Amino acid sequence: MSKPSVVLTGITTTGTPHLGNYVGAIRPAIEASRNQGVLPFYFLADYHALIKCQEPERVRRSTLEVAATWLALGLDSDQVVFYRQSDIPEITELTWILTCVTAKGLMNRAHAYKAAIADNEASGESDPDKGVTMGLFNYPILMAADILMFNAEKVPVGKDQVQHIEMARDIGGRFNHIYGEHFVLPEALVSEETATLCGLDGRKMSKSYDNTIPLFEPAKSLRKSIMKIKTNSLPPGEPKDPDSCTLFGIYRAFATPDETAAMRRRYAEGIAWGEMKQLLFEYLNDHLAAARERYEEMMQSPAPIERALTDGAEKARSYSIPFMKRIRESVGIRSIATGNVRSAR
Ligand code: TRP
Repeated sequence: MSKPSVVLTGITTTGTPHLGNYVGAIRPAIEASRNQGVLPFYFLADYHALIKCQEPERVRRSTLEVAATWLALGLDSDQVVFYRQSDIPEITELTWILTCVTAKGLMNRAHAYKAAIADNEASGESDPDKGVTMGLFNYPILMAADILMFNAEKVPVGKDQVQHIEMARDIGGRFNHIYGEHFVLPEALVSEETATLCGLDGRKMSKSYDNTIPLFEPAKSLRKSIMKIKTNSLPPGEPKDPDSCTLFGIYRAFATPDETAAMRRRYAEGIAWGEMKQLLFEYLNDHLAAARERYEEMMQSPAPIERALTDGAEKARSYSIPFMKRIRESVGIRSIATGNVRSAR
């Protein structure tokens, strides 16, 4: 059999996983991990979290929630290298080495940094860099180290991250040009067919809009959240458009094609919003109940999560330790006592 291809992705640990994360990222990643031809590396990007969040308790809690979510949903840590970024010190080591070959101008062009500057300018701020940390500025280099460390070929990400993968290619290519072919250059994998859900207010469900529905909130709060979803004011009996409806969008992301077709007919017949909300709640609740129970159990006693992550870190380091040694040597950080003829390339 040919060597499995390395697929790698990171999850920033700053919030509580919501329905949109599940449908857009978690579910497809877990499905992909069952595919025989791939070696998946999935990790908790807790150092990336520090860029956006300086509340220690929130970072800790989110790391636990994200790990528990993925495991409760059936991620098999025997088939996937599942780890915390901060458990792999070679990643931060590589970050520095990559920093030294990265053009500052490349970082100036990063969307996240440019957006921060544009905000400052729009608000009449005299310092365009106000509130910009070096962490935010260097974000793409840490991300490049995440990817290049394991020679990932494919990196599944949302559209907003594509530029970062291109930067990882640039940085890896620059290193290879100077020091020899050490890094595989990664490609972004952007899935067009994964659904994006709308949130409570009808905009895209996203932490930054504060309109999310947590994936594993208890049944009672789940019901409450669904009741809060904004709809138009068409009365019962009046035909309704499913395709512009947040409720239908969420339903469709979980239901089978037959169930979805049947629901379309209910919309044409003028289903009442109250009934649709109740149906959606029941459907989601049934669908999520078993995983939610496993999630709650793990949140109560997280020792198995810690174990899974520690095992994952050990597996990841069986790649990163020898690889980092090779990278260090390639740049000239090597023993000066051995005469060194052997390691000259
Ligand atoms: N920046 C990514 C995000 O916000 C998370 C991330 C960190 C990542 N390191 C990565 C994704 C490496 C892919 C590969 O979504």
